[in-house]
Amino acid sequence: VDLHSSSTRTETEPDGLIFIGKEEDIKKSQRITAKINGREIVVFYHEGKFHALDSRCYHEGGPLYCGEIEDINGQACIVCPWHKFKITLETGEGLYEGINPLESSPTPKWQSKGVKQRIHTVTIDNGNVYVSPPDFSVSFDSDYFADKYKNGGELAM
Ligand code: FES
Repeated sequence: VDLHSSSTRTETEPDGLIFIGKEEDIKKSQRITAKINGREIVVFYHEGKFHALDSRCYHEGGPLYCGEIEDINGQACIVCPWHKFKITLETGEGLYEGINPLESSPTPKWQSKGVKQRIHTVTIDNGNVYVSPPDFSVSFDSDYFADKYKNGGELAM
């Protein structure tokens, strides 16, 4: 099954940005996968904004492009279809529901584990959507799976 219905071409624009697709196409499909230098990413269009993330979940490599988007405390999150981890679209933070046992009546609250999923900077120019090349001077948990599935590694659903 070819899940990459989207453009798989890797086109580097003069200003160093990588072409992903046409703005109007992504607005219509709401999500698109692409390869940037062999790395699989997913671009979501959600509530008027574009968000790009590594497409393989930082937990065990689940396919985030098949997940549902949920609102958690006003933050749009992609829910991984494999074990339901929640990742904010805006920042790539992993969220978990934690309890503080020291509270008199502990109630679960959403908290951040920090940025786990690499996000990619999106630029819209002239009806085209681009992402910036990743900055590998900083690493994220999702890098492991991005490398593992690089260049068409097995596509598990
Ligand atoms: Fe995504 Fe486990 S692989 S939640």
